[in-house]
Amino acid sequence: MATTTGDVVLAPSPVIRADKLSRTFGEGQRGVSALKGLTCDTAAGSQWAVTGPSGSGKSTLLYLLGALDRPTAGRLTVGGRDWSALSPADRALYRYTTVGLVFQEFQLIESLAVWDNVRLPFVGRRRERRMHEERARWLLEAVGMGDHLPRPAGVLSGGEKQRGALARALVNDPLLLCDEPTGNLDQATGVLVMDLIQQLAAASPAKTLVVITHDPGVAGRFAHQLHLRDGELVA
Ligand SMILES: Nc1ncnc2c1ncn2[C@@H]1O[C@H](COP(=O)(O)OP(=O)(O)OP(=O)(O)O)[C@@H](O)[C@H]1O
Ligand SMILES: [Mg+2]
Repeated sequence: MATTTGDVVLAPSPVIRADKLSRTFGEGQRGVSALKGLTCDTAAGSQWAVTGPSGSGKSTLLYLLGALDRPTAGRLTVGGRDWSALSPADRALYRYTTVGLVFQEFQLIESLAVWDNVRLPFVGRRRERRMHEERARWLLEAVGMGDHLPRPAGVLSGGEKQRGALARALVNDPLLLCDEPTGNLDQATGVLVMDLIQQLAAASPAKTLVVITHDPGVAGRFAHQLHLRDGELVA
């Protein structure tokens, strides 16, 4: 059985470094190059928006950052570590302890209550449990989900799922990755959610924050922006 080194919890505000990062799906003529040799660097604790047309490789980049996928060429390091090179167990621990991910399709476990979904990242971490539970409760209140804790995620509306997914992602330090976090929210809730994401990212021990968005209003909130087109960095 694979074992973990236990050395996977990152220091706050990890630096992200991509060097000729590529991800191709399939082979030959039918292969799709979702990312084509992306090179970039983020400063510690910085907040980034990633924009670009549909199919330009934004979600692919986020999956690589979250160690849910591996590059087909090039290198990606977060906090100086190349997560794709680690054992599956270390990668899983990295995801549980370090990365908060808000997926484009939420990926809540629909049969579990909202409360259990948000507690999921720290199940088995008994020592930190009480602190995390307090934080989980506070986050669910902050995203307006305080009255929904026992409800199964499967019965929630799109916007409620999105807010639940956000609370789950924010439980973890220090890397927060969000794929269209306001995509299913009305304008006013979207502004509240973005305020919350940016406040928490700035207040928690300097989170590194990456937000994918189609919304120019959301992108405009970030000093740093990456614009992708056809798997390449254009700005
Ligand atoms: N698992 C996969 N198998 C085959 N092709 C894939 C896979 N995942 C992504 N792709 C392709 O890679 C390209 C980039 O996809 P990606 O999901 O990263 O785009 P995106 O910028 O997030 O788009 P959107 O704004 O629509 O979410 C697309 O052409 C997509 O069809
Ligand atoms: Mg996407």
